[in-house]
Parts: sequence; structure tokens; C-alpha cells
Amino acid sequence: MCGIVGYLGTKNTKNILFDGLKSLEYRGYDSSGICILNHGEFVKYRAPGKIKELENKVLNLDIEGRVGIAHTRWATHGPAVEKNAHPHEVGDICIVHNGIIENYQEIRAQLIARGAKIASDTDSELIAHLINEQLLITGDFFKAVFESRKLLQGAYAVLVISKKNPDEMIAFKSGPPMILAAGEDGTDADFFIASDVQAVIKYTKKVYYLNDQEMIHVKNKHVKVFDLKGQTLPIHFETLNWNAELVDKKGYSHYMLKEIYEQPNAVSHALIPHIDPIDQKLKIKGFFDSEEQTHDFLKNLDHIQIVACGTSFYSGMYAEYVFEKLAGISTEIDIASEYRYRNPILSEKTLVIFISQSGETADTLAALRLAKSKGARTLSVCNTYKSSIDRESEFSIYMNSGPEVGVASTKAFTSTLVIMATLGIALAKAKQKINSDEEAHWIQSLLSLPLKMENVLAYDKFFKKVSHSLKNKKGFLYMGRGTNFPIAMEGALKLKELAYKHAEGYAAGEMKHGPLALIDEDMMIVMLCPEDDLYEKTMSNLEEVKARNGHVIGIGSLGDQKLENMCEHFLGLPQANWITYPILETIPLQLLAFHVADSLGHDVDQPRNLAKSVTVE
Ligand code: M6R
Repeated sequence: MCGIVGYLGTKNTKNILFDGLKSLEYRGYDSSGICILNHGEFVKYRAPGKIKELENKVLNLDIEGRVGIAHTRWATHGPAVEKNAHPHEVGDICIVHNGIIENYQEIRAQLIARGAKIASDTDSELIAHLINEQLLITGDFFKAVFESRKLLQGAYAVLVISKKNPDEMIAFKSGPPMILAAGEDGTDADFFIASDVQAVIKYTKKVYYLNDQEMIHVKNKHVKVFDLKGQTLPIHFETLNWNAELVDKKGYSHYMLKEIYEQPNAVSHALIPHIDPIDQKLKIKGFFDSEEQTHDFLKNLDHIQIVACGTSFYSGMYAEYVFEKLAGISTEIDIASEYRYRNPILSEKTLVIFISQSGETADTLAALRLAKSKGARTLSVCNTYKSSIDRESEFSIYMNSGPEVGVASTKAFTSTLVIMATLGIALAKAKQKINSDEEAHWIQSLLSLPLKMENVLAYDKFFKKVSHSLKNKKGFLYMGRGTNFPIAMEGALKLKELAYKHAEGYAAGEMKHGPLALIDEDMMIVMLCPEDDLYEKTMSNLEEVKARNGHVIGIGSLGDQKLENMCEHFLGLPQANWITYPILETIPLQLLAFHVADSLGHDVDQPRNLAKSVTVE
């Protein structure tokens, strides 16, 4: 939610800020702005709409300056109009902010009472007023920021520059992510501060991940990090193993399409760390260094809770089926925004799993903190290394998908499904529910996935062709049973968020309890019906749909003539079992959503009203 980037150094500030903004656009894209300090004056431009609108404004301007800040916005307070876009300038101060200031009403009233002229509807502008007031009192830039920060409640990552201090840049955070990066050559001539490493990866790989309540002060080629009391803290830079190429479209029309095609690789990367390359046995990573200790830990668990949002929640639903059926362990799944306000019952034998691609989702992070405060053992499954959820959980497993830029999650989802399947096998092994032959069978079936996924990607052409007729449908119902049910939910979410079509996922057996009434000429049914142990039941549900003249896209097992005869369109997928088939059938649903949205002319990578990383409640 909102992306911020700042630069102080020797290179072209304008270019660096625009590169940063473009790579952060996934965080919010309803307006953007830039401010560069040029010969003692702020040169500031802001524009509603996507970053290209801002770029058009400043394209031919030669803006010099060694320090600057920029912002791409996802609106919380006030509509997406120019006056609400960041940066916000007050007196000698200019700031960008990501987050929500919860006591903003109170601060606003106090500022107005003291005579401040507030120009926008945002909570963010108030931060600039507070710092400017302090600056007038103390005359010291650092002190002014340090003192003002104490007045803020809520979630914030703030970056500040000052007209009178051209060699300085100050930032602080509580909640949303923030990184400090330094010039790679080690001369410390260049410093970057941003919401995410993607903003700086083209220029440097030397990164420090800020902790909550830390404050950075870059001054005259030096940087210091302070805690709340003003004590300096050591800075341990890490070297990123991502490179700029990973955040390139690589010739694809959209990031989402590229990420759909990356899935065979992504799934391998998710799986490989947990498989011994010599004997192809499972060696689950992320818990303890010793395999025996991990085995004992898993063996002694008697309950698992899984907490996540959106697509990550659906991967948790899939895990619930796998853990219960394969490992016989009671499992419960909840949406993070609900869990955090419940009173979850936890014992020392409960493991709570938090799934989050970004590792920054505010509700999931709050749920993690709640579970920890109640003494639970916690495991995170994140794609973003060193994200807040990764850092704060006791154990961590990585998706290893590489950067996911499209707002609609794709490769992170299938990678998580593979990790959940792997964890299910590890639990089943620890609880002696499977023998070593069965373990080998499940592992082999997971290892066979990348090749099968390559084949399924061929359905890209099919959906490209039929999307023109599908785009006129009023709505879509996705149905499946067992491990196919979470995939039906995920398929519907993809279509909703990209094509802005009404779509629902249902457990196929639930149709007769109401949703059957929705079936008519304009409703498309997507039926997930592999030849698994619920095949006959699902086919009966399909009969009920056909009896009401429903139009059906059937996704099932290759060669299933019976299913094919009942469908308007039939997609046969390679043979797979109840654990691996859902991973394969996810791909056609992603392609369906992509092509319907694209044929409607929607911005697939940046759907309206959304942002990739939801760091507000
Ligand atoms: O980063 P997270 O996995 O925590 O994100 C959770 C959801 O916001 C996310 O999956 C969202 O539903 C996606 N836009 C779905 O494509």
C-alpha cells in the first residue's frame, strides 16, 4: 500500500526515483509524485493516475539535484486527486508517507487551532506540518523529525527531506516495510531508502532491512540508524541474491503472463530445498537444523491453525485437506482479519502457520503477533525474504518464487501449494501415517509437476480464443470438491479482481442449497472434475447444473469422454492425484482470468482499486 523511494547521492536523482517508482507501482497506482531539491528549492510534481501521467509531466524537464523523494499512492484518506498525492510540502519540509496515522483527527484539530493551513484531505500532510513546526522551534532537522515522530500513532513509513539540509535524508518506520540501500562500490556515495528492494535492485544489492521504531539519518556520505531513545544501532548490510532481470517482463506483454509461465520453474524452486538430492527423500527445511529435532517437533503437534488473506488463504484451505487426510492432524484455517479479533485457543502443541507472499500483509502480521503473545509455535511461509512476517515468526519456509509483480498472485500460489503438500508429507511421515514407499510416491508425484505444468500452459491459446465470447457472460460459478474446492475459490477470485466480473467459488455439493438458482443463459459454470475419489459425486452435481441448461467449461482428466460430452468446452489435464491435480488445474483458471480481463481492455497487472501489498488494516 503506497510505495516510497528516496535517493541521496551522485547519480541522476530523477532517473533513479522514476526507476524506483515504476518498480513499486504494484504497491498502489492511483496517483504519484516526485520532489527533488534543486539549488535550495523543492521542484515538486504530482499527478493523479498511473506513474506514466507523472512521467509525461516531467519527461522533458532537466531537474538537477542530489537528493529527492517520490511516492506512488493507494488512497486511504481522500480521493485520488493531485492535492492528495505525495510528496507533501510544508515550509522547508517535504515528506512521503506509507501507512495510516490513526490519531490524525486529533492532530489535524490541534494543527488547525495553531493556525496551520491544511491543503489536502490526507493524514500524511499532517506529518509534514508537525515536522515543520518542530523545525521552527529547534532549528535542527534531525531533532525536528525525532520529536515529531513521537506524536504519531498508527502505521507509518516516512521519508523526509529539508530545503536547508541538502546533504541529508531522514526516514523512520513503525509497521510498513522500509529498506536502506547503499552504493555497491562501498564508497557510500549513494544512499537509497525505499519500501522494497525492487526499487533499488538495478543500482545496488547492499541492503539493510529496517526494524520497527528505527530511524535512519543519512548525512554527508554517512548513515546512522537510531532507536526510539536516540541510541545508535549497528547496521548490518545484506547482499541480495535477486537481480534486476528478475523484475523485467522478459518480452511478455504483462508481468502476470510472465509469472504464469514461470510456474514450472517456481514450483521446482519451492520444492527442491526440501528434497535430498541423493536419495530423493524428504528433508523439510525451515524448522530446526537437526532433522531429528524437526521430526520430533512435527510428531508432537496435535493441532494446526493456518492464517492468511486472499489467495494465500486459499492455499491454506488446500493445506487443511492435505494435513487432515494425509497426516491425520486436526487443522483449522481462518482469514487473518477475523483471526486477529478472535480468541484463538492455542496450546504448546499447536503450530500456527502464516502464509503471505509479501510477508507484509497487516492483518496477517497482527494475527502472527497475537498467536505469539499467546505462546504458540509459529511458522511463516513467505516469498519475501526478511519481510516482517518472515522475521517475526519462529520458523520460516520460503516460497522461493522470485519477485511477483502482477497484483494478482499466481506463481506464489502454486509454489505455496507445493510447500503445503511437502509439509503434509513431512507431518504424515512424522506421525507414521505413511511408510517410506508412500513417501517416495508422493515426492515423485510432486517432482513430476513442472513437466506436466509445461503441458497445461498450452491452454493459453484456447483461452485467448474463447475469451471473446466469455467476456460477455454476466457471471461465473466455479465448482469443485475436496482439494479442488479451494482452487474453485481461487479461480473465482482471479476473475473478480482482474475482469471485474461477478464470480463465486462453491463446493459443488453446496449448489443445491441456493446457488443453483443463479444458473441461466448468461452464467458460465467452471466445473473442476478430476477422476478422484469424489468424481462420481461431482459428476452428479454437474448433472444438476446441466438439467438447468447451465453452460459448462469442464476441467478434468485427459481422455474423460463422459465429462467432455457434458461440457461446452472441455480441458483435459495430465494424470495426477488428489494432491497434485489442484496445482495443475490452477493454471487454466489463471489463464481464463487473464484473457477475459485482457479482452475487456483491463489493466491486468494493476487492476482497479487494488494494491499488491496490503499493509493497512
Ligand atoms: O502478500 P499476501 O500473500 O499476504 O497477500 C494476500 C492477499 O492480499 C493477496 O493474495 C490478494 O488476494 C491477491 N491480489 C490475489 O491475487
